[in-house]
Amino acid sequence: MDQEAKQIESPSIVLESLDGWRRSHDCGSLRLDHVGREVVLMGWVQRRRDHGGLIFVDLRDREGITQIVFDPQADAAAHETAHDLRSEYVIAVKGVVRKRPEGMANPKLRTGEIEVLVDALKILNISKTPPFLIEEETEASESVRLKYRYLDLRRPSMQANLRLRHRAAFLTRNYFAERGFIEVETPVLTKSTPEGARDYLVPSRVNPGKFYALPQSPQLFKQLLMVAGFERYMQIVKCFRDEDLRADRQPEFTQLDLEMSFIEEEDVYPLIEGWMGVLFKELLGRDVPVPFPRLPYREAMERYGTDRPDLRFGLELTDLTQVVKGCDFRVFRDAADRGGVVKSLRLPDGGRLSRKDLDDLVQYAQEFGAKGMAWAKLQPDGWQSPIAKFLSESVRQAITDKMEGRPGDILFFVADQPAVVHETLGNVRTRLAQQLGLIPSGEYRFCWVTHFPLLEWDPDEKRYVAVHHPFTSPLEEDMDLLETDPLKVRSRAYDLVLNGTEIGGGSIRIHREDVQKRIFGALGIGEREAREKFGFLLDALQYGAPPHGGIAFGFDRLVMLMAGASSIRDVIAFPKTQKATCLMSGAPSEPDVSQLLELCIKVEKEGR
Ligand code: AMO
Ligand code: AMP
Repeated sequence: MDQEAKQIESPSIVLESLDGWRRSHDCGSLRLDHVGREVVLMGWVQRRRDHGGLIFVDLRDREGITQIVFDPQADAAAHETAHDLRSEYVIAVKGVVRKRPEGMANPKLRTGEIEVLVDALKILNISKTPPFLIEEETEASESVRLKYRYLDLRRPSMQANLRLRHRAAFLTRNYFAERGFIEVETPVLTKSTPEGARDYLVPSRVNPGKFYALPQSPQLFKQLLMVAGFERYMQIVKCFRDEDLRADRQPEFTQLDLEMSFIEEEDVYPLIEGWMGVLFKELLGRDVPVPFPRLPYREAMERYGTDRPDLRFGLELTDLTQVVKGCDFRVFRDAADRGGVVKSLRLPDGGRLSRKDLDDLVQYAQEFGAKGMAWAKLQPDGWQSPIAKFLSESVRQAITDKMEGRPGDILFFVADQPAVVHETLGNVRTRLAQQLGLIPSGEYRFCWVTHFPLLEWDPDEKRYVAVHHPFTSPLEEDMDLLETDPLKVRSRAYDLVLNGTEIGGGSIRIHREDVQKRIFGALGIGEREAREKFGFLLDALQYGAPPHGGIAFGFDRLVMLMAGASSIRDVIAFPKTQKATCLMSGAPSEPDVSQLLELCIKVEKEGR
């Protein structure tokens, strides 16, 4: 029998019930003012220390920790029982608050100036030795934490994260309710909504061979609510997307979803800025400067190489294509001649990077499809660079001038098609900032990215697909390009970016059936397919759909950033792993054969 099991069966421990005991205080609230008061506390044993006949226990509940003291002089029976206490036992104590002796105060605890001298103890429940200590700094691996999530959630930071989340949700509901938004629930068992990910499917028993899709977002339903005349809809809602997971993605996640009628972009931006202002003020005590800067998509890509720029640091990209056109370095010249671009990023004072740092960076750059990344250290007497010999003195000087380079700086260059150059330098920019500590901590920089392209080319499917979703309105002035130069058409879509993370995205929608049909045409969605997939939306657009638009926020992501967490798993009570499994419950699991039979489903695993 192992140690833990023995402990549990220890005959000396008698478990008691509350029997009318009621908590008078929580473990975070007692102060010097309470000295002399008789109190009842309940909670978990954080730890027990025996000291010269006295037993000290740190008693923990969700509000904090209070030191309780067992003294044989005060109550011999309680003192005797206290010897049995172990970590995470659940107990109730009655006792008197007293000031801690001189020099014994603990400034790290809010209750650190007092302790409670116990005169009665009840052990309410015992605990196995937990697989990790319930302490802020845990060394447990994330998989152990996820397996024992109910223990992990006892840790103060996890409690704080979930409370922050609760308060954010509460403030959000209030903010939008005060502005006339009505919360409406939309179905979870539904039809596919195209948001670019795979669907989770749910088989229908009563309709054999048919499946519901879990919503990737309530997009179609919120638009239908506008047709239905609700004018202002909100919902804090679970969405489901079967996609490759990362630190800021979960297969099921929560959106704050909004839709409004009779509005344009200029109505959306201040509404959201006001909401962010409330959240940041109330939850973090921070003033958020408004209005947020706005960057058209094209400009964001040009300057930062990404549509979710982190504005907490500079390191902007500079286009050198014109400067190097016709130069002697083949890589640059070819890119410029073949419709590509040559761009550069200047790292002030970057000359201190070692050769190894540079080799690592070049290797990193190649992960994004760049064939290479050239660099040049600017020194008082000229360039130190593997490509210096390929460039004439005048071209080198022209580059240095254009880059506003100074001795000590380093320049990085990538030449390729614009998408590759942007992706590469955008990522190099972020990595340099992280590596060199250029990101100020505790700063929150928002920006709107606007005028996303309406369409992009999907080389696998060999057709255009919607960048946002197919219900996004094109910019009216670009409509004429829809059939002639589709990739040039800008949309009325916008994202809100915070510190380099996309926290929300939305658009002004198409509210006219003829325009919607034209977009489906441009997307290569034939009439039959359109009817089959979105017939109900097309029908609804024929019955007086008002102009409307909206936006949805990744609520988990927002709370993650506000909590300063590095993964959205830290702000979700029961998250899934990167492989979309739940280590605690074991989901997903194999169903009973009888369930499959009922659903007329046969599972073929071969070849998988
Ligand atoms: P979009 O697809 O941009 O828009 O999603 C909105 C926001 O949801 C968050 N998000 C996620 N968060 C966690 N895990 C995921 N897997 C995940 N996927 C997305 C992001 C994103 O900005 N119906 C439209 C909104 C609209 O047009 O109104 C939509 O869903 O923060
Ligand atoms: P190479 O001629 O391929 O040996 O490359 C010479 C230098 O140019 C090396 O420092 C490469 O890293 C760099 N380089 C190669 N391809 C590119 C590219 N597409 N963009 C920028 N630099 C490149």
